[in-house]
Amino acid sequence: MSKSRNLINITDLTVEEIDKLIATADDIVANHADYEDICRHKKLATLFFEPSTRTRLSFEAAMLELGGSVLGFSSASSSSAAKGESVSDTIMTVGNYVDIIAMRHPKEGAPIVAAKRAEVPIINAGDGGHFHPTQTLTDLLTIKRKKGRLNDLTIGLCGDLKFGRTVHSLIEAMLRYEGIKFVLISPEELQVPEYVKEKMNSVGAEWYETESLEDAMPELDILYMTRIQRERFFNEEDYVRLKDSYILDLEKLENAKEDLTIMHPLPRVNEISVEVDDDPRACYFFQALCGKHIRMALILFLLGIEK
Ligand code: CP
Repeated sequence: MSKSRNLINITDLTVEEIDKLIATADDIVANHADYEDICRHKKLATLFFEPSTRTRLSFEAAMLELGGSVLGFSSASSSSAAKGESVSDTIMTVGNYVDIIAMRHPKEGAPIVAAKRAEVPIINAGDGGHFHPTQTLTDLLTIKRKKGRLNDLTIGLCGDLKFGRTVHSLIEAMLRYEGIKFVLISPEELQVPEYVKEKMNSVGAEWYETESLEDAMPELDILYMTRIQRERFFNEEDYVRLKDSYILDLEKLENAKEDLTIMHPLPRVNEISVEVDDDPRACYFFQALCGKHIRMALILFLLGIEK
């Protein structure tokens, strides 16, 4: 059996393949009935060694809506990882039961280990502070649906840009489009890692860093808020000091563009005040819906199924 494709990092997909996934996601919405039974007899495993609401449940909803089945676990403690089983052995086992695997693991690189052993497609559903490519696909679909384009945009990324893997993946994806400017809004201690800056510089991307959300606001087409990632801090004291660095409220939006798109991968803690939820520019729950549509498209793509 020939080895199938995996999705470990967003750059595993070409821009053309991403365009195709976006087109399929839109077709799924427009012609839902055509897809209801398309994955009959196919099974997806969701192996989540770390907590999740959106990613796991949207993957499961995606496969169920395609007529397939799902199985898996939602924490390491409810799998044999708790008894010391390796990722590799888990994957070799589960690969006997299913056609495709989505996995989330706290250790960076765990999905690469899994992909080396698996005979079925492996989807990285988040590995530590590293990558979260299906969130990036979600973000790209959201931007395309809201803005009608993936080029010529000024994107503000705000919050924990050091540990926020969704930010790293989104920057990497957007570097492949023309006319993108990044405004990186964070406390000094939570700036994007050097390797991300090097990637931006290597393609001559336009970007700058600031600590002020208010100063950056007027020029933004997209504001991508992120939570301070408590679970990745080495000490609680630093987390407590930094956790309320940015709280987006209606007052801060007074200087924003009327067609600003406010995004957040969620979960939110308190970095977006709930009063913003009713503002027409708030798109984060729509973004979560886009996540299901693009994961449906991705499952079909990786299984080699066409309408
Ligand atoms: N955006 C995201 O990854 O959410 P979950 O952690 O709930 O899956």
